[in-house]
Amino acid sequence: MATITYDKASRRYAGTERPAVDALELEIADGEFLVLVGPSGSGKSTALRMLAGLEDIDEGAVWIGDRDVTQLPPRSRDIAMVFQNYALYPHMTVAQNMGFALKIAGRPASEIKQKVLDAAKLLDIEDYLDRKPKALSGGQRQRVAMGRAIVREPQVFLMDEPLSNLDAKLRVSTRTQIAALQRRLGVTTVYVTHDQVEAMTMGDRVAVLSDGLLQQCDTPRALYDHPANVFVAGFIGSPAMNLASAKLTADGAEVGGASVALSREIISAADGDTITLGFRPESLEVTTDTEGTLPMKVELVEELGSDAYVYGKLAGEDASGTQSNVVARVDPRTPPRMGDTLHLRIRPDELHVFSGTTGLRLP
Ligand SMILES: Nc1ncnc2c1ncn2[C@@H]1O[C@H](COP(=O)(O)OP(=O)(O)OP(=O)(O)O)[C@@H](O)[C@H]1O
Ligand SMILES: [Mg+2]
Repeated sequence: MATITYDKASRRYAGTERPAVDALELEIADGEFLVLVGPSGSGKSTALRMLAGLEDIDEGAVWIGDRDVTQLPPRSRDIAMVFQNYALYPHMTVAQNMGFALKIAGRPASEIKQKVLDAAKLLDIEDYLDRKPKALSGGQRQRVAMGRAIVREPQVFLMDEPLSNLDAKLRVSTRTQIAALQRRLGVTTVYVTHDQVEAMTMGDRVAVLSDGLLQQCDTPRALYDHPANVFVAGFIGSPAMNLASAKLTADGAEVGGASVALSREIISAADGDTITLGFRPESLEVTTDTEGTLPMKVELVEELGSDAYVYGKLAGEDASGTQSNVVARVDPRTPPRMGDTLHLRIRPDELHVFSGTTGLRLP
């Protein structure tokens, strides 16, 4: 087992203007499950491949444990990778696929057999050891790919979207299995996904990337409760956090035809005359009060059984001169109707405030 350190590590592909991964600084603890998440093209796979040795590091360094591996070839880094497409050998059985790396390394047949069997038991695929991959379901193939990584007993597991070939239901059960397995094995793991729900449910910590830049790295709870900037605020959470540009006043901000009170501390920290207010759908209360609440015209009601979400627009304009779209979670037993006007109160301790210029969280 080992720690991982990205020390201002950058990767710039030939012929591109900006680095795909830009001065990444990240320390991953021994045995930690770290998830790299971000939209398509944000540099997740590149960051993982830099750690694996499949991509050059143009500036900075990468360490595994107390070894600087920046210049080491992949085979000398003691890592095992699980990719999206599994890449199983079709002509080999499950057992041969799982034991292949050990065979190449010249390990004795009896040891290989034992390790493959142990891993197969762990993954509940021991009945399929003699089958070829084509005779397996997607979920079983995924477990074979995991097994192939496990038998190598590496210091680090690297996984790049390993669940994306599975259907929605299987993804959910497999992600729980992988997270539980990782905790049992205690092997430091870096896991790439573009799915923020997967990130939040699996990771000890989650690192959010955008345009090759690390935005924030923290526990799922901390990302949710204290997003460091507007990007993280809008990326983490589903439905997404409502974000509205608001005009600063002496004691708060004006948005959508209502005043929202703000602390003196926040008002003095603001660096312009507008700020961005963030409030999650579940941080809104429907009230009969018209004072200090946001009037919203209901455009759509989405009933999910356990919850209902109301989509609409604020009655008044925001600081950028448009009517902000807002989503609110409401009691599913008494949902409003299309065309209704709701009065929404933001729970004061669940209001997020960001700079209107830099997008950074205000204290
Ligand atoms: N071999 C390459 N040559 C040039 N540019 C590349 C190369 N590989 C990736 N890029 C660019 O680097 C950026 C980051 O790519 P990367 O594959 O790391 O993104 P990602 O976050 O994994 O995205 P996805 O979720 O779509 O897999 C993208 O803009 C991509 O176009
Ligand atoms: Mg990728």
